[in-house]
Amino acid sequence: MKKNRTARSRVPGALALWAAALALAAAAPARAEQPKLKVGLMLPYTGTYAALGNAITNGFKLAVAERGGRLGGREIEYFSVDDESDPAKATENASKLIKRDQVDVLVGTVHSGVALAMAKVARETNTLLIVANAGAGDLTGPLCAPNLFRTSFTNWQPGYAMGKVAAEQKKKTAVTFTWKYAAGEESVNGFKEAFEAGGGKVVKQLYVPFPQVEFQSYLTEIAALKPDLVYVFFAGGGAVKFVKDYAGAGLKASIPLYGAGFLTDGTLEAQGDAAQGVITTLHYADGLDNPKDKAFRAGYQNAYKAEADVYAMQGYDSAQLLAAGLDGVKGDTSKRAQLFAAMEKARIDSPRGPMTLSKAHNPVNDIYLRRVEGKQNKVIGIAAKALADPARGCKL
Ligand code: PHB
Repeated sequence: MKKNRTARSRVPGALALWAAALALAAAAPARAEQPKLKVGLMLPYTGTYAALGNAITNGFKLAVAERGGRLGGREIEYFSVDDESDPAKATENASKLIKRDQVDVLVGTVHSGVALAMAKVARETNTLLIVANAGAGDLTGPLCAPNLFRTSFTNWQPGYAMGKVAAEQKKKTAVTFTWKYAAGEESVNGFKEAFEAGGGKVVKQLYVPFPQVEFQSYLTEIAALKPDLVYVFFAGGGAVKFVKDYAGAGLKASIPLYGAGFLTDGTLEAQGDAAQGVITTLHYADGLDNPKDKAFRAGYQNAYKAEADVYAMQGYDSAQLLAAGLDGVKGDTSKRAQLFAAMEKARIDSPRGPMTLSKAHNPVNDIYLRRVEGKQNKVIGIAAKALADPARGCKL
């Protein structure tokens, strides 16, 4: 009895030890937990592009949340900076994220001038950069690099597609108008390239400094020139103002307004009647008939109580592309070549429709022809099928 009691009294002690060991084993994962993956979001959260920066952020976070907060098995930790769409502050802002916060990947931005500076810092530090909007051709042209990817477009893509459409419509003359910086210039030049190759003539190219929105004198000039159409690049707050001013000046009925789709994406609520009938080209549209877009739109609406737009979609796809890369290396970002290879060959099931990347790491996708009807950019055709940017100057 005594022996038994002793044995019994020893058993609980041994059991407790055993249970504690088990609990410890359960708490520690089979493999050592990898550190969190630090994502640096460098985007505009103030100024004319603020809504665009917020939509990209929301889209990115939605795709991560759908994967349980992890990509490639690693928990995601965010660092963010408001770049104010100011190229003069861009190098310092990118350096802060890379050197101070030690981010593993940089995601941004909207403004081409800011993105060009980010790309230089990313190249110097060999940081993975995913461009979620800015369309500067150089990023996937002369500045293309193994560690630089884009999930959006080049400014040339929608511009070129629209020039082709306008020429096919037998329009003869056009005036272009935009902000004087890389994005605007490349967009209108893309339009001019295709429009003139198809027999049209750009009779005047008008520019206003970024981000000014005093359009009146330019509208007076357009009215006097009487072209068959006007092609513009404006986005965000500037796009809202331009579309209203164009209608307000009484030009809408006499000179059709065409633009890169940013003119009417994420802006229709604020533009109201002034936007009705505006024709644009973009790699996204409202009411696309694909299940991925339907799920994305519903998820976005549910999470943010807002309509998704092209920027939200690009943010979402930036996280999808990063996920494809990280899955390929099981979260091990030190396997650089494998990580980049997995991203290069990713076939993204995008809300826009299927998306692949060119050799220069720029999206190859259809460019939709859209017309504003009510609160929607309705698809009225495909302006260009699987359009790839020519990537002039890229040596990848
Ligand atoms: C750009 O600067 O490249 C840019 C900005 C806003 C857009 C599109 C392109 O909506």
